[in-house]
Amino acid sequence: MKERIRITEVGLRDGLQNQSRLVSTRDKLQLADALMKAGIRQLETVSFVHPKAVPQMADAAEMTAGLPQRQDMDYLALVPNLKGYERAKAAGYRNVAVVIASTDTFNLRNIKMTRAEAEASCREVIAQARTDGMAVRAYISGALACPYEGKTPVSVVHALSASMIAAGATDVAISDTIGAGNPAQITDILKPLVHDHGAGIFSLHLHDTRGTALVNAWAGIECGLRHFDASIGGLGGCPFAPGATGNVATEDLVYLLHEAGFDTGIDLENLYAAVEVAEAITAQTLGGKILQWQRSQEHRAQAAVCAPQDQRR
Ligand code: COA
Ligand code: ZN
Repeated sequence: MKERIRITEVGLRDGLQNQSRLVSTRDKLQLADALMKAGIRQLETVSFVHPKAVPQMADAAEMTAGLPQRQDMDYLALVPNLKGYERAKAAGYRNVAVVIASTDTFNLRNIKMTRAEAEASCREVIAQARTDGMAVRAYISGALACPYEGKTPVSVVHALSASMIAAGATDVAISDTIGAGNPAQITDILKPLVHDHGAGIFSLHLHDTRGTALVNAWAGIECGLRHFDASIGGLGGCPFAPGATGNVATEDLVYLLHEAGFDTGIDLENLYAAVEVAEAITAQTLGGKILQWQRSQEHRAQAAVCAPQDQRR
């Protein structure tokens, strides 16, 4: 039997938060539906942040209310503080994600807290969520590099991960928010973490800003990780991290994993259909390398079908 790799689809939150054109609640739900049809079962749907900070997430509660209640779906909401947590709880979430960045500057720009304040706040939210019986992810943002302070020391990532795990986090997402990491750095971070805490509690959240996301994912697999984030069509970026572009495209990651003999439970053809929905609702061309290749093949096949007719003219 093939080994399973879990994929958390983050396009609806990480992907859409950076879009200047507002996407309607209905359109978000249409994308959620397409993703579920493709076999996505872990879906980060919204963030409960200040609507002025991220206008695209202002409809978080409405969007959540429109999602189908399915036992087999694991919906996740990002919460930046206790107020966000209470909003997520009221909306019915059983799985929330807190966020802590590697430096003071990044935390201050993102959530208006120093790193120490963010750590205390995350620990408080995690403790409350665990008391309420929820699962909690902790994003370690800028784990490879900070957009303001440069390369992140491995010791910082280790200390923050240990702190979040001690507080009760059930998933620690090592996040290359600005896509600046390389496989050697990923290995340096993950090997000791996996040794100390086991691989199961970690996931990798990779952006593809410099084209290194897939090779970084592979370094994660070699360190024993079996849980990765991805964004449909490579949609995304962070409004508080200048220059950051989208996450690794879900279809590229799924293609790689299937080719390498892993099972994801996701259907690639239906994922392509979800990319088309994402393109329609954001009014832009999306898609990772594999979709570009797929489209070029369709184009060639169409050209071949057309050729005899052309000759008849
Ligand atoms: N959702 C909605 N409103 C919130 C909130 C939340 N999670 N947290 C605080 N507020 C409100 C408060 O109720 C208060 O409202 P009032 O002025 O009407 O009384 C106001 O915001 C200020 O509260 P404060 O606690 O001082 O918040 P802040 O101004 O320090 O902002 C954040 C902190 C985290 C809410 C804000 O920086 C934010 O939303 N950042 C977005 C981060 C993000 O999405 N990053 C990308 C993903 S990692
Ligand atoms: Zn991200």
